Amino acid sequence: MSAEQSLREVNVPRDGYDFVVVSNRLPVDRDVAEDGSSTWRRSPGGLVSALAPVMAQRDGAWVGWSGAPDEDLEPFDHDVFHLVPVALSELEVRRYYEGFSNATLWPLYHDVIASPEFHRTWWYAYRRVNERFARQAAETAAPGATVWVQDYQLQLVPRMLRRLRPDVTIGFFNHIPFPPTEIFSQLPWRRAVLDGLTGADLIGFQRPGDAQNFQRCVRKYLGVQFIKGTAQFSESTADGEETSWTVNAGSYPISIDVESIKELTADPSVRARAKEIREELGNPETVYLGVDRLDYTKGIRHRIKAYGELLHDGELSVEDSVLIQVASPSRERVDSYRQLRELVEGMVGRINGQHDTISHTAIRYLHHGYPFEEMVALYLAADVMLVTALRDGMNLVAKEYVAARQDNSGVLVLSEFTGAAEQLRQAVLVNPHDIDGLKEAMLHARDMPRTEARKRMVAMRRQVLTHDVVDWSQRFLDDLAQHAAAHAPGGDDDATAAGARAGGSHE
Ligand code: G6P
Repeated sequence: MSAEQSLREVNVPRDGYDFVVVSNRLPVDRDVAEDGSSTWRRSPGGLVSALAPVMAQRDGAWVGWSGAPDEDLEPFDHDVFHLVPVALSELEVRRYYEGFSNATLWPLYHDVIASPEFHRTWWYAYRRVNERFARQAAETAAPGATVWVQDYQLQLVPRMLRRLRPDVTIGFFNHIPFPPTEIFSQLPWRRAVLDGLTGADLIGFQRPGDAQNFQRCVRKYLGVQFIKGTAQFSESTADGEETSWTVNAGSYPISIDVESIKELTADPSVRARAKEIREELGNPETVYLGVDRLDYTKGIRHRIKAYGELLHDGELSVEDSVLIQVASPSRERVDSYRQLRELVEGMVGRINGQHDTISHTAIRYLHHGYPFEEMVALYLAADVMLVTALRDGMNLVAKEYVAARQDNSGVLVLSEFTGAAEQLRQAVLVNPHDIDGLKEAMLHARDMPRTEARKRMVAMRRQVLTHDVVDWSQRFLDDLAQHAAAHAPGGDDDATAAGARAGGSHE
């Protein structure tokens, strides 16, 4: 049986779900108790909280991987979610997840900060796993349903799903940057990836620049031109018929769950914890904070280097200031992540060894994940937030810090290479490659007059509080629905309002 034939055979459920989200990970994490029993807990993060109410309202299901290899779970319900697990073997975790997703696409899409590896065995696994996700989505969606596919791990799903289920409306959102043509060109499977993505009705990106990069790649490699964010695609079906559809592509910058941060910042125990953190640090004048997954895109090395030099130059002292660096463990079996951990821990060890006193530590390096309450307490405790990513699709930590600063104090130092920098223009913007510039920005943030810091924070808070993640998901889903209505058989099939809107910038 050919791949094309096998893709066509799918059981369309009569009583499927009207709204299906497809992402690499399910929106739940496993909690394992001391006696070995386990329960599920809703995953933290904006996407999950934004989509939870939509799930509840629209009879939704979520298709994804549990996070463990070789685990064949039946669909199950957890709080508002109907969860449909997709199983991955240990070899598929190696090749599809750690390999093609995180050692090929991730570095390629992040300015080749690390060298992407190209292996055909990884690509075959990526294709096979994408096919499994597409099939599972096809067998979960009700006739005429809306399916929203998330992120770079699943770029082939839209076209595969369209072939299986031409009746469903398909959205795709890319959470990470989309690279310029010159870099994307390196990918040996560049046409197949673009083919996969253009199976969607609406493709969302973080920045207008990402959407432009994508449109240029499509023009170069598929020979199809987007006009005002809209393009026409067609292909022959297995029975020789020609089918065509309209694709919109545009920018939809993601945001955060502002409500949950508001609740936590108002919680007396979180506020008390923030105070306690400062006391435990010996009430320094300036608390600098970095919060990242331990990933080479985040510029953690640059930040630590700059901080170490400021201590060495005598511009900072361990008595007066401290850097708290939370580096949560991530993708730990991938080589480049292992190497980064060695490097960062070596740097922190050297700087602390040189500058610590019995009572003061230069850098508090914490290689753990923390509950969200603790993160918000850290945001409240920090005078200066350092976000120095070398490339980042958005960077939600920057937005979370701003949302947490209810009293309008605090300074955000933000890399110009993050999506967030396009919205948080009043941050102290930095080029993290410029270590001297970074050092200056760190001192400037410390010394900024209160009135200026306040003015900047007020403006940034206005932006974040009025553009939360619920707003983001609604805007995307509204445009997708308008697209579906306009392009349904008998619909007003021209360049629609949704198309024109998607083509412009949303920010
Ligand atoms: C980024 C990606 C997400 C991913 C997350 C954590 O934010 O855009 O798709 O889930 O990192 O990475 P992980 O590999 O642990 O899922």
